[in-house]
Amino acid sequence: MRLLVTGGCGFIGANFIRLMLARHPDWTIVNLDKLTYAGNRLSLADLEQGPEDRYLFVRGDICDPDLVAGLLADHGLEAVVNFAAETHVDRSINDPAPFIGTNVQGAQNLMDCARRAKTARFVQVSTDEVYGSLGPEGAFTEDSPLAPNSPYSASKAAADLMARAYFKTYGLPVVVTRCSNNYGPYQFPEKLIPLMFLKACRDQTLPVYGDGLNVRDWIYVDDHCLGLESALLKGRPGEVYNFGGAAEKTNLDLVRALLALLGKPESLIEFVQDRPGHDRRYAMNFEKAGKELGFAPGLDFDQGLARTIDWYRANQAWLDSVQSGAYRKFMDHWYGDRP
Ligand code: NAD
Ligand code: TYD
Repeated sequence: MRLLVTGGCGFIGANFIRLMLARHPDWTIVNLDKLTYAGNRLSLADLEQGPEDRYLFVRGDICDPDLVAGLLADHGLEAVVNFAAETHVDRSINDPAPFIGTNVQGAQNLMDCARRAKTARFVQVSTDEVYGSLGPEGAFTEDSPLAPNSPYSASKAAADLMARAYFKTYGLPVVVTRCSNNYGPYQFPEKLIPLMFLKACRDQTLPVYGDGLNVRDWIYVDDHCLGLESALLKGRPGEVYNFGGAAEKTNLDLVRALLALLGKPESLIEFVQDRPGHDRRYAMNFEKAGKELGFAPGLDFDQGLARTIDWYRANQAWLDSVQSGAYRKFMDHWYGDRP
C-alpha cells in the first residue's frame, strides 16, 4: 500500500503513521503537513532517518491542488487518510475562518484530487462532535442527525457532507469515520489531558470549565488508529463508521483521576467560566464498526491514562519544547518563517 497521510505531524496522525509502519513492513507513507502551531515534525523525526521509500515528509497545504495532485501522481499513491485539520474548539470560537479553510475547502480539494487520480480509497477522519450534544441517556449512531454546535464541529460536519456528495456524485470510494475524544502520546497541550498534566506538574491551577460535569467518551489513540486501519482496508465506500472507547467520564472525574495519579491535591482545581456552546455529553454507539470492521476499543481507560502519563513524564523534553515554542525554532531552522 502506498498511502498519503495528511496532518501526520499532529497528534493522531503521528501515532497512526508509527503504528501502520510498524504493522505493515510493505507500506509506504507520504506525510503531507502544513506544520501549523499543532504540527510538530519532531514527533516523527526518527522516521526521517529511515529509507524514503517507507516514510517521506512533505511540508505543504491540503488546500493546494497542484501540490496534492502532484504527490498522488508522482508517488503512485493508492489511498488517502485525511487527518489534517484545525482541531481546537476554543480556537474555533475565537476565529472560525481557518477552520473553514482547512477543514472544509482543504478536505474538498483532497477529495477532488483523489477522484481525478482515481484513488482507490479515501478515509475522512471525523468526530463525534458533528452530532452535537446528548442528554443523560443514549448514544449517537451513524443515523443520528448532524447538529454541530461549535465552528469546529460545523466545519467537520461540512466535510462529512462533502464526502457523501463526492461518493454519490463522482463515486469517490470515501469512508467517513467519527470518533470520540482521543488521548495518548504526542497530544498538543492545549487539549484537556496534556494541559492538566502540565499544569499539575507545575502546581498551577487546573481550569475546569463550568461545573465540570460535561461528559466525554475517551479512547486510547492506538485503538482509534486500529479502527482507521480497518476502515481503510475493509470499510464500505460511502459509509460512515462510529468509533468510541466505551469510557464516559465527567471532566471533573477525569481531572481528579489525573491528580490522584500524580499525587497532587484536588485543591488545584479551579472552576472557570464555561466555554460558549459547550456540548454537555457525547457517547458513541459503535456496533456497526464492531460488526463490519471488527472494531473494539482495547485499552481500559485507567490503564490508558497511566500509560499516557508515563509517556509524558518520560518525554518531558517534547512537552517542554512544545510549550516553549522551541520546536518551532527547530523547524524554522529547516524552513524559515512559519505561516
Ligand atoms: P492536531 O491538531 O493534533 O493535528 C492536526 C495536524 O494537521 C497538524 O499537524 C497540522 O499541522 C496539520 N494541518 C492543519 N492544517 C493543515 C493544512 N491546511 N494542510 C496540511 N496540514 C495541516 O489534530 P488531531 O487531534 O491529531 O486530529 C486529527 C484529526 O482527527 C482531525 O481531523 C480531527 O478533527 C479528528 N479527530 C480528533 C479527535 C481528538 O480527540 N483529537 C477525535 C476525533 C476526530
Ligand atoms: P478538549 O480537550 O478541548 O476536547 P473537546 O472540546 O474537543 O471535547 O476538551 C475536553 C473537555 O474538557 C471539554 O468538555 C472541555 C473541557 N476543558 C476544560 O474543562 N478545561 C480546559 O482547559 C480545556 C482545554 C477543556
